[in-house]
Amino acid sequence: MRDNTPQTTPYTRHIFICTGRYCDPTGQARQLYRALMVVLDDLGIYNNPRRVKRGETPCLGVCMGGPLVVVYPDGIWYHHVDEALLKRIVDEHLRQNKPVEERIFYRLNSENQEKDGK
Ligand code: FES
Repeated sequence: MRDNTPQTTPYTRHIFICTGRYCDPTGQARQLYRALMVVLDDLGIYNNPRRVKRGETPCLGVCMGGPLVVVYPDGIWYHHVDEALLKRIVDEHLRQNKPVEERIFYRLNSENQEKDGK
């Protein structure tokens, strides 16, 4: 019997761009998504253990301030992303582990961490 369990090569992060109509009425997010393949450069090499997957989604449940980008597993959300900011996110956040603080509008679990005193 054949094993149909899916498999994937190693990766460390997944970056999503919302290309939904409320975030992307002019098609800018679509262009950013296409540019990501080039901007990710060596992080996008298929068998690279530091590989970052990219994905586009029709909605992230925010629907304003787009283009929106979210990086997982960090759970860090960026708003009004343009090509210059996308390059900073890749260089500073993904390569140097220094998120671009001034354009973050949400951090996953940050409210729970504040309650826990972390
Ligand atoms: S359309 Fe982008 S979050 Fe809903």
